[in-house]
Amino acid sequence: MTTVAIVNQKGGVGKTTVALGLASSAANRGIKTLVIDLDPQGNATTGLGLFEPTRGIDTVLQEERPEGIHLAIEESGWPNENGFAPLVAASSPDLAIREPQLATDPLGAQERLSSALGGQNTIQYPLQIIDCPPSLGLLTINGLFASNCVLLVTEPGAWAVDGVARMLQTIDRIQARRIEREPKLIGIAVNRLARTRDARYWHEQLQDAYPGKCLPPIHQRAAVSEAAAQSMPIHALGKRPGTAEASAEFDKILDSVLIGGNGE
Ligand SMILES: Nc1ncnc2c1ncn2[C@@H]1O[C@H](COP(=O)(O)OP(=O)(O)O)[C@@H](O)[C@H]1O
Ligand SMILES: [Mg+2]
Repeated sequence: MTTVAIVNQKGGVGKTTVALGLASSAANRGIKTLVIDLDPQGNATTGLGLFEPTRGIDTVLQEERPEGIHLAIEESGWPNENGFAPLVAASSPDLAIREPQLATDPLGAQERLSSALGGQNTIQYPLQIIDCPPSLGLLTINGLFASNCVLLVTEPGAWAVDGVARMLQTIDRIQARRIEREPKLIGIAVNRLARTRDARYWHEQLQDAYPGKCLPPIHQRAAVSEAAAQSMPIHALGKRPGTAEASAEFDKILDSVLIGGNGE
């Protein structure tokens, strides 16, 4: 079982896009997946075709609910021909007020999600993807405590190296606090790589700064943003130019996640 947190404290780098791309690859391969949307903006929830959630992940964050994840899960709106459409623990605007409220728990509220997912009686999916918000606050920290591996998403741009360094420090600190020494870093997903000299330069800077940690890149393609806008899995966009290439790039990232997350 793999539970992967998708993180970067910066917004707009492609966390949600990568979460949806991985969910699409997994559905295409017949891997039953749960997507947990921890971002109050709820882009993963709508990207999965769920426009009026009736449940939501906030249910298991507002108070301690050990093994309570089933209270938050519902079906996505993705096509389900093969029975492998992902399930969703949806976001809600309440998450924005939940974060400062979590900070007031004298016992520390960093493990509420982990507790909700834990336990042998809990329904567990072979792949659980946690889409984190663009901050280092308690929602992202809950994501990192609940996951066994982490994918750091960045764009190849100015300050990307510094942003990655800051996130890696946070991951280190969480590993030091967890007896399992998790979450394990799967790698850095370099997203939205354009075919420009500038993008190539910043991509090289990342590869130099983090040798061996950068995964095969995901290129900038209209098909990728269109899939999200249409609330469709990228693998189902058909003959749209760039669809096959983008799908293949997400497939490669999924391989790395499954290999790393299953402890291989
Ligand atoms: N590889 C890509 N190609 C084209 N557009 C992309 C790509 N990755 C992300 N985008 C677009 O960039 C915007 C921000 O991406 P998003 O995944 O929402 O970032 P984050 O979750 O980190 O805030 C979205 O409009 C998304 O469609
Ligand atoms: Mg997002």
